[in-house]
Amino acid sequence: MDKELKIVICGGGSTYTPGIVKDLLDQRQKINIKELWLYDIDEERQNKVALIVKEVIKTEAPEVVLKVTVNPKEAFTDADYIMAQMRVGGLKMRVKDEQICLKHGCVGQETCGAGGMTYGMRTIYPMVQLIDYCEEYASKKYWIVNYSNPAAIVAKATYKLRPKARIINICDMPVEIEARMAEILDCKLEDIESDYFGLNHYGWFTHVRCKGVDVTDKLKEHVRKYGYVSEASMNDALLKDPDWVHTFKNSALISSMFTDYLPNTYWQYYLMPDSIVDYMDINNTRGMQVINGREKRIFKAAEDIREGKPVDLQQFYVGVHGKFIVKVVESLIHDERSRQLVIVPNNGAIENLSDDATVEIPGYVTDRGVEPVRVGSIPRFYKGLIEQQDACEGLLVEAAIEHSYEKALMAFTMNRTIPSSLVAKKLLDDMIEANKGYWPELK
Ligand code: G6P
Ligand code: MN
Repeated sequence: MDKELKIVICGGGSTYTPGIVKDLLDQRQKINIKELWLYDIDEERQNKVALIVKEVIKTEAPEVVLKVTVNPKEAFTDADYIMAQMRVGGLKMRVKDEQICLKHGCVGQETCGAGGMTYGMRTIYPMVQLIDYCEEYASKKYWIVNYSNPAAIVAKATYKLRPKARIINICDMPVEIEARMAEILDCKLEDIESDYFGLNHYGWFTHVRCKGVDVTDKLKEHVRKYGYVSEASMNDALLKDPDWVHTFKNSALISSMFTDYLPNTYWQYYLMPDSIVDYMDINNTRGMQVINGREKRIFKAAEDIREGKPVDLQQFYVGVHGKFIVKVVESLIHDERSRQLVIVPNNGAIENLSDDATVEIPGYVTDRGVEPVRVGSIPRFYKGLIEQQDACEGLLVEAAIEHSYEKALMAFTMNRTIPSSLVAKKLLDDMIEANKGYWPELK
């Protein structure tokens, strides 16, 4: 019998928690979970989400023990696997990031542009602290599988500041796109295998295979016309959200201009920021939509449970987000060597990028971590874009470590979504003001 595991969700109060728990319990033949711990610094929020998680456990696997805590020592002592999904500053700060950017005429987005850099500044040290807790308290063979955004910046910072940490940084966007591809092709997601390179939220699919057959051209033809949207995909929960439909459709414009590869959806923010700013509404930002949608639904469900009313748990089981992180954990436990798209230090994988670039590429997940594949050289256009963005993210991490205002300004200036150093400075100054108490002090 496999070892009985203590699994911790860090950021227990997230709207994603019930979905992750469901997908985790679905795999308990392979993941011998004894205790599931929720950890968060926001006790009130986590307690609400915990009410729903209790229901999920009651229906799926009542033998699993649920513990809920705001005490890091309790949470991480002897922990085996830690799934991290912290949102530093909460959705309230997400909205501030978005609105400040839009006020200056720039893309107001959670992980891209000034919003992403601002969120990165908030998240670097809390992530480092999480690693330190795990080093101190957790099982010697702990693994952190990290979804916390902005993943590109967080990954870069953790690899730099805690190079020995047992952490794997991941993002569900590529696999969500693969799910759309499967719908377009009318096949199963498990049958899709991709070759991919880039940075997180900044990458390209170079080849896609379905059961080993190359389907890249077929997909390109579809995506050029319709984006990552098909009739079948309209039944997908994610595509019930107009904002996501807009995003998945925008890939049509990008893939008809740049035809070598299939784009990650996030290219819309970098390659067509003007059109995105026109589309965005400062009075109804994405963060506000999440507060009025996903978050409201989860709080309402918690209230209903408290009042003894029935709740439809299905509404929280959306997309492949939970399945993907659970699959990575399963691969770590069983040395499955499953092939996943992961965020790793480049170290030669993309031949003509520097070793310290933080790249998103395929890798095999073993019990010792990720064995990345070798990508080879990439063409000038893609290399140029990636080098600029990696420099931007690298400068931001250095700014946080060195407390350097000027490096932060360089990072903001380097970003494709910000048109000039003058706008960069205004944005940075407003972000510093809005993030008092969250950011390291810059001098
Ligand atoms: C995708 C990305 C995540 C991001 C999320 C935002 O899943 O990979 O990094 O956090 O989208 O979705 P939302 O619905 O909160 O705007
Ligand atoms: Mn992501």
